[in-house]
Amino acid sequence: MLPLLRLLQDGCFHSGEALGAALGVSRSAIWKQLKSLEAELGLPVHRVRGRGYRLESPLLLLEEEVIAASKSSQDWPLSILHSVDSTNAEVLRRLASGHAPPFIVLAERQTSGRGRRGRNWISPFGENLYYSLALQVSGGMRQLEGLSLVVGLALLRALRTAGVARAGLKWPNDVLVDGRKIAGVLLELSGDPADVCHLVIGVGVNVNMLVDKVGIDQPWTSMRAELGAVVDRNEFVCELNRQLSRYLAMHQAQGFPAMRDEWQGSHLWQGRNVTLATGGRPVNGVVLGVDEAGAILLRVAGVEQSFSGGELSLRLSDDS
Ligand code: BTN
Repeated sequence: MLPLLRLLQDGCFHSGEALGAALGVSRSAIWKQLKSLEAELGLPVHRVRGRGYRLESPLLLLEEEVIAASKSSQDWPLSILHSVDSTNAEVLRRLASGHAPPFIVLAERQTSGRGRRGRNWISPFGENLYYSLALQVSGGMRQLEGLSLVVGLALLRALRTAGVARAGLKWPNDVLVDGRKIAGVLLELSGDPADVCHLVIGVGVNVNMLVDKVGIDQPWTSMRAELGAVVDRNEFVCELNRQLSRYLAMHQAQGFPAMRDEWQGSHLWQGRNVTLATGGRPVNGVVLGVDEAGAILLRVAGVEQSFSGGELSLRLSDDS
């Protein structure tokens, strides 16, 4: 199916005959593949009598060679899948079957993309970035402190370098533009965090998505919507690799405290009145910043308190 998709990705009309000739198959084989594109990948194909077939909108597919050829790209081995349940789940499966980190899995689409706090991450084909990096972490819990915030910082730098200048962070690692989510991070661990373990850094970025076909349950935006132009996802992967390798190296050498000021300087909700959802009773307070381990610091009824944990989530209070 991929060779056919490559021919169609320009969004122009191609006759069944020309497609068949280019791929060395019959016109009816082309027709079957086109049906599969629609059914399996959710890609609408338009057919006009006398002109042929074209995709509803042009695509720029992810290309391993293009990413690998980028001089500045970190040389983590990379695989690109057409469709997968979740790139994080795929990485965890590969780790369980003995695949040695570091490595990256990218997908053109996810059928069960995972977000934080059990949410779904909407992942249509060919539009956005679904990226999971597997790393080995040794040195116990200290090596993990603040790591999820550092990943958010690297992602923010990559977005700003790509031109999304107004992007900022929301604790712990959401990236927002004008209150709308553009990217998120889901870290998953396997093994013993107190000893040697594997870390999966899952990053989802709304890159070229302009239309929500399924009903995303929060305000969102995309790089394309912010920049007014289609973004080359291959280039963005290289930039993300570059920033992640830089920030992860800094974190390993100096720990989160060395990046704490930079993180707080990019935190959109410093000083704001917020409500922290904890799973139990929500906590109302004012955001003071983050501590040296990346926990959020709130002033609650005049007292400074810190909170940490993957299931926590902030929202602005109504009076904010
Ligand atoms: C969030 O809720 O903000 C985190 C979203 C993380 C989504 C990414 S997409 C690539 C990777 N694979 C997944 O299933 N989830 C993460």
